[in-house]
Amino acid sequence: MTDEQNIKIKVDSICKVFGEDPESVMDLVHQGISKSDLLEQTGHVIGIRDVSLDIAGGQTFVIMGLSGSGKSTLIRHFNRLIEPTAGHILVDGVDVVGMNQRELKEFRRSKVSMVFQRFALLPHKTVLDNVSYGLFISGMNRKKAYDHAMEQISLVGLDGFENHYPTQLSGGMQQRVGLARALATDAEVLLMDEAFSALDPLIRNDMQSQLKELQARLHKTIVFITHDLDEALRIGDKIAILKDGELRQVGTGTQIMLHPADDYVERFVRDVNRSRVLTIGSIAEPVDGALEGLPADTPRIREDTMLDEGFRALATGSGTAIVVDEAARPVGVVTPKTLLEALAG
Ligand SMILES: Nc1ncnc2c1ncn2[C@@H]1O[C@H](COP(=O)(O)OP(=O)(O)OP(=O)(O)O)[C@@H](O)[C@H]1O
Ligand SMILES: [Mg+2]
Repeated sequence: MTDEQNIKIKVDSICKVFGEDPESVMDLVHQGISKSDLLEQTGHVIGIRDVSLDIAGGQTFVIMGLSGSGKSTLIRHFNRLIEPTAGHILVDGVDVVGMNQRELKEFRRSKVSMVFQRFALLPHKTVLDNVSYGLFISGMNRKKAYDHAMEQISLVGLDGFENHYPTQLSGGMQQRVGLARALATDAEVLLMDEAFSALDPLIRNDMQSQLKELQARLHKTIVFITHDLDEALRIGDKIAILKDGELRQVGTGTQIMLHPADDYVERFVRDVNRSRVLTIGSIAEPVDGALEGLPADTPRIREDTMLDEGFRALATGSGTAIVVDEAARPVGVVTPKTLLEALAG
């Protein structure tokens, strides 16, 4: 199934304006008034301006931007913690904005679950009770809720800690309890708002790996917010970049690294260690006829090799290498020169 056929969440022209009378300033917003001018002239704040996005099922979709760019505002529309000033959110084709209270409650109980930056664990309940709480109050019997919760606790690597209290756990472990709690609901969509941002770098790294492993098994639709491009590149199948509530670019990590849409995106891209996020395949030159003059012992290099590793491999040879896919078919060629240019951006 292509991404177009497999749209899980469709964000359709969402606008969110905060203030006394958002409707009254919508004409100005549509005319393109800047966020600062609107604030100065009317006292209203643009949270999100006319954002449309398609998020495919089974994808990890990252929303990125600086503080105040509208990331939380956008993601909170997905389970309608925020009502849009205009526009619609469709999840599996159903308009979340049009749901009545009963439908919304059911939707939040069964379809989406949210992981916050601070997990808001219940301090007087054990890990097991925190994870099973949602299941229990939604009517599952205690034995079944516990069994199910234990599976999630194990999934996030907290076996043996089920009877501990949150204060007895490290920050990273508490984050994992929050993740287990979100996973326990069996929701198809996980919304994660800066879920790892408060962690120190090593634990954060572990959590990113763990999320990737879980996702490889579970294939949920994950919307993940971060202000860190390295994190976005590491876990995102697709990345959307917001500035002042506007969408600046959507694409794969490689697309964004190689073709930043504007100066703002370029600024994020500049600080990233390109050698660890770009693959040899992404910079290979097409093969047409190029293989002909090459000697039989020309080195071959897999397209999914990262640039830093590729660089080491090439450095031992003298010139061109043939880039091959997983079936060893040539897909292009790469030279030390193209590699160096890619590394330099
Ligand atoms: N309840 C609110 N009332 C008024 N303005 C708000 C409200 N919530 C958000 N805003 C404004 O909307 C804009 C986007 O805020 P938002 O919280 O979505 O940013 P963010 O990208 O999540 O930032 P951060 O990285 O700091 O969490 C900001 O200018 C903010 O001041
Ligand atoms: Mg935020």
